[in-house]
Amino acid sequence: MTKSPLKPRERILVALDTPDVARAVALSQALGGHVGGIKLGLEFFNANGPQGVRDVSKAASESTPTPLFLDLKFHDIPNTVAGAVKSVMPLAPSILNVHAAGGIEMMKRALEAATEGSERLGIERPMLIAVTVLTSLDDADLTSVGQTTPARDQVLRLAALTQMAGLDGVVCSSQEIAAIRTECGPDFKLIVPGIRPAGAALGDQKRVMTPKQAIAEGADYLVIGRPITGADNPASAAAAIAAEVEA
Ligand code: C5P
Repeated sequence: MTKSPLKPRERILVALDTPDVARAVALSQALGGHVGGIKLGLEFFNANGPQGVRDVSKAASESTPTPLFLDLKFHDIPNTVAGAVKSVMPLAPSILNVHAAGGIEMMKRALEAATEGSERLGIERPMLIAVTVLTSLDDADLTSVGQTTPARDQVLRLAALTQMAGLDGVVCSSQEIAAIRTECGPDFKLIVPGIRPAGAALGDQKRVMTPKQAIAEGADYLVIGRPITGADNPASAAAAIAAEVEA
């Protein structure tokens, strides 16, 4: 990833939430160089596998190298997660993530695998990020799985654990940016979804922030999907968001 200070455009990670390689390739060709990275997640990966990721990554980087955020949220025993990280390293992701709830040993092994893999391949180590508490879970959902700490406290606890494991940062909701920034300091990376430019359709997102607000709160990267991918001209939509942040 680009070293700071980041330009507003470089803070935008566009979520390509589709199982369709042709659509993801077309969006990547349109957006390569206009955003800070493309995000491919479980829907795309499970439909198209590593070759699909290579095709999209190549399309995104046709004119300008465009980082890849591989959003696969690994969560398993440490040995298996280390193996999964090793297996995806040839895809040269710039950002990779795991679930913090997998524990400190799992996170450390993931980090080791990312470090070893990148050294072996002669590439930069991906930023390794943890998911704390899924924002789809509220306090009642957590209680139902035996987790009685309120979601907000659990997010902070897992962010601190992530930092202790040596990872680079967490994915968090806009509501959590300020508290995690205070708890984990200025260098801990915060990647924030649920972003809507002023006046944009919310879709199924309930608690949103504008790009400008989220950056002002302390976000490093913004994950933005439909406001860009659903626009008639995705590159202009991304440029408008960058301009809104800069204004
Ligand atoms: O289209 P939209 O901007 O809502 O897309 C947001 C992206 O961020 C999607 O890929 C979604 O899965 C992801 N995400 C989210 N909320 C979270 C975690 C991830 O919207 N708490």
